[in-house]
Amino acid sequence: MFTRAAARSLAAPSSRLFSSSAARLHKVAVLGAGGGIGQPLSLLLKSDPLVTSLSLYDIRGAPGVAADVSHVDTGSEVTGYAADQLDQALEGVKVVVIPAGVPRKPGMSRDDLFNTNASIVRDLAAAVARISPEAHILVISNPVNSTVPIVAGTLEKAGVFDPRRVFGVTTLDVVRARRFLSEAVGTSPKNTGVTVVGGHSGPTIVPLLSQTEWGKQVTGESWKKLVHRIQFGGDEVVKAKDGAGSATLSMAYAGANFTNHLLRGLSGEKGVIAPTFVKNPLYADQGIDFFSSPVELGVNGVEKIHPIGTISADEQALLDACLPELKKNIEKGKAFVA
Ligand code: NAI
Repeated sequence: MFTRAAARSLAAPSSRLFSSSAARLHKVAVLGAGGGIGQPLSLLLKSDPLVTSLSLYDIRGAPGVAADVSHVDTGSEVTGYAADQLDQALEGVKVVVIPAGVPRKPGMSRDDLFNTNASIVRDLAAAVARISPEAHILVISNPVNSTVPIVAGTLEKAGVFDPRRVFGVTTLDVVRARRFLSEAVGTSPKNTGVTVVGGHSGPTIVPLLSQTEWGKQVTGESWKKLVHRIQFGGDEVVKAKDGAGSATLSMAYAGANFTNHLLRGLSGEKGVIAPTFVKNPLYADQGIDFFSSPVELGVNGVEKIHPIGTISADEQALLDACLPELKKNIEKGKAFVA
């Protein structure tokens, strides 16, 4: 399902199609492959022609998921690894996607997951540093605003941190923004691009609706409602699942989509741009050195970090509310590693 053209149209409408063959070998590992996100994500990655080999690891159930997914009739090899086989799972991987950890229950914030997920993510990052220090790491586990600095700090301690290779996956915010805006203005989501910047939790999610013709059509109370829905869309799912977890299917879609964008960049395609939460100089002078803004992806990972562009006064107010919260989240992650 992830033909290049289809995937291309999802989040980077301006990017150009790359014509040469995908000669590079892309081994992708999913850590947490047995979970609510991990299973459909593994399936979608099996459908991505840019993935040549899939390595599925979890403390529970990954060999079963691998056996199942391996029957899908695409070319990639799939191997499942049991709890004590993390090192083997990481051998030779180019990209590591991490959805391992606990999800929210009703009434919880993403930050409430910190105590459990911080150590899970740190230990997995330490294993990547040991076995595949040059791998690109895509962090899905929440709270992303803190888990990404934890991964970066862990790699730094191991002496292998490269800011071009660590990404927080904020794609679901973009996916939701496109969908909700297109519902509001009656367009196709495919043609309704929205840039979302900041972080990945409530008020740190800043959609820049004023930057497109469609977004400009939404004003006043409607704008406020739409922004709130984009910022807190995850809560709709948590509430509807009623204790059984948070977004898994739409997240798997978003995670596979971002992975596809990275693989296209790694393959040499030019002009692949997607918002992602990375080590970022834009607000570093305010002590906020991780931030999601549109990032150009290339053969080394992060190729170029784009500024957020012109924003409206209302969006500036959103950004003003985002930054102090984001700073706290980042500092919490850094303190955990220190
Ligand atoms: P889940 O509980 O269904 O699955 C998590 C999986 O991680 C389980 O299979 C579990 O066995 C595994 N796991 C736990 N510790 C592990 C370890 N040390 N090594 C390997 N695997 C381990 O949870 P779900 O719904 O898949 O969510 C996973 C994470 O993704 C949560 O932290 C959730 O908050 C986050 N999430 C992030 C989103 C984003 O936009 N970035 C959106 C939705 C969820």
